[in-house]
Amino acid sequence: MIPAQLLTNLNDKLAAALAQLKASSDLQKLYDAKVAFAGKQGFLSEIMREMAKLSKEEKPLFGKEVNRVKDEFEKAYTAREDELKSAALLDKVNKERIDVSLPGAHLQAGAKHPIAMVMDDVIAILARLGYTVRTGPQIEKDWYNFEALNIPPDHPARDMQDTFYIDADHVLRTHTSPIQIHTLLSEKPPFRALAPGSVYRCDSDVSHSPNFHQIEGLLVDRQVSMADLKGTITFLLRELFGSAVNVRFRPSFFPFTEPSAEFDCSCPVCVGKGCRLCKQSGWIEIGGSGLVNPRVFEAVKLDPKQWQGFAFGFGIERMAIIKYGIDDIRLFYENDQRFLRQFNV
Ligand code: DAH
Repeated sequence: MIPAQLLTNLNDKLAAALAQLKASSDLQKLYDAKVAFAGKQGFLSEIMREMAKLSKEEKPLFGKEVNRVKDEFEKAYTAREDELKSAALLDKVNKERIDVSLPGAHLQAGAKHPIAMVMDDVIAILARLGYTVRTGPQIEKDWYNFEALNIPPDHPARDMQDTFYIDADHVLRTHTSPIQIHTLLSEKPPFRALAPGSVYRCDSDVSHSPNFHQIEGLLVDRQVSMADLKGTITFLLRELFGSAVNVRFRPSFFPFTEPSAEFDCSCPVCVGKGCRLCKQSGWIEIGGSGLVNPRVFEAVKLDPKQWQGFAFGFGIERMAIIKYGIDDIRLFYENDQRFLRQFNV
């Protein structure tokens, strides 16, 4: 028989501990109660030491009693813990009500730069005709920027483009045309290539920036005519500015094309009637073009008797100016958010 006093003590302490659990008003107090009763230095550990004084027969009986008490305590503890946790959660939910009528956090979304928008438009339109994009370095060897394009050192065409020289043999590319040369050297025709990019000229005023953007087109195949070029340019300009615009070609000169033509589009703003943008002429100059000069094919070791091509190139800023009615080119580079935000559609 277990000594009655020991059993009474065990049961009394359990009852007191259970009452303490019930009285614990938060999780910390509850935990403290657990440490005091069932912790390493708590009551249960202490009373187990009393076992040493018991007889061989009494020991297992007492052990059983202690286990029963321990189980009962654990159960009560878990139940109270659940109760307190739910209460805390409920309290939180009640307090932290979301006010759906509050104004939201304003996220300022970025937008594409107008130059990038026009560039992407041109690329997307010509992609429908099978064109894909090529790139090239912005610092070019003289040979790529001039010589291979049939502009030898003493050629007057060099004056057409005031060049930034890096050293005697390197320039900041003055146009995207050198990408024609990179493409011709690295790919086998036939192909349709588009080369958008940043270009540089020693020039600066309301309509000229020392750094601006061009896009170049190059198609090489067995049989290519001016009619193919005209069809392509007309398609592009009508897709870009609307089907009502007219396109015209004027004879011109570029060393890398023969024959060469500049192309204009009827002013999309006044529809040819005459306005400030088209300087009352009804036409707007867009870019240069022509059939690839056989001397360019020779420079890249392609046989001009086997291959023909057309090329065209124009400034992107100009297109953006027409499209968005902007009258100072410098606005494109100042990154004034008030200006740029207007294109955020
Ligand atoms: N590279 C010329 C320029 O910057 C533009 C140009 C004219 C490109 C005729 C061409 C072309 O591809 O055929 O002024």
